[in-house]
Amino acid sequence: MANIVLTGFMGAGKSAVGRKLKELTGMEMVDTDDMIERDAGMAISEIFEKFGEGHFRELEKKAVEKASDLKDCIIVTGGGVVLKEENINNLRKNGKIIYLHAPAKVLYERIKDETHRPLLQVDDPLLKIKEMLLFRAPFYANNDFVIDTANMNVDEVADEVIKIIKK
Ligand code: S3P
Repeated sequence: MANIVLTGFMGAGKSAVGRKLKELTGMEMVDTDDMIERDAGMAISEIFEKFGEGHFRELEKKAVEKASDLKDCIIVTGGGVVLKEENINNLRKNGKIIYLHAPAKVLYERIKDETHRPLLQVDDPLLKIKEMLLFRAPFYANNDFVIDTANMNVDEVADEVIKIIKK
């Protein structure tokens, strides 16, 4: 079976949906952010702080290359994975790209109390989310399926993913 690749902005629910899918399908799950942290031996916030975003994106590209070779897996990606077209091309080789969409306000509500995302540690995270979403919209459009998760809980999104891949 094809890999299920979850893309979407920070707070879209990719990790929670990935875990639910693992539970429902018994498929293995990998998370490119976890792979990066394991390989680098440090947290993503530390990688950004010490080496900058450009370096993080290179590590992300390598993690994506590795994950793309897997089969029958749920692949949870970081929100910026779509920025390199090469990443999506790699992930698509063995997988279907499913973009979990949510509007800025919903994303903000989901992430506002969390501190581990360096790109959102700013004075006005909602404004930052709006700006980034606008910039990234054409990148997230590079998908095979979209689920609008605004009014859905994790279980409902996971059920929808399963419907999509069974089609
Ligand atoms: C990022 C999203 C994060 C992580 C890093 C950068 C982004 O992953 O990869 O902080 O650029 O959108 P999540 O989407 O899992 O939070």
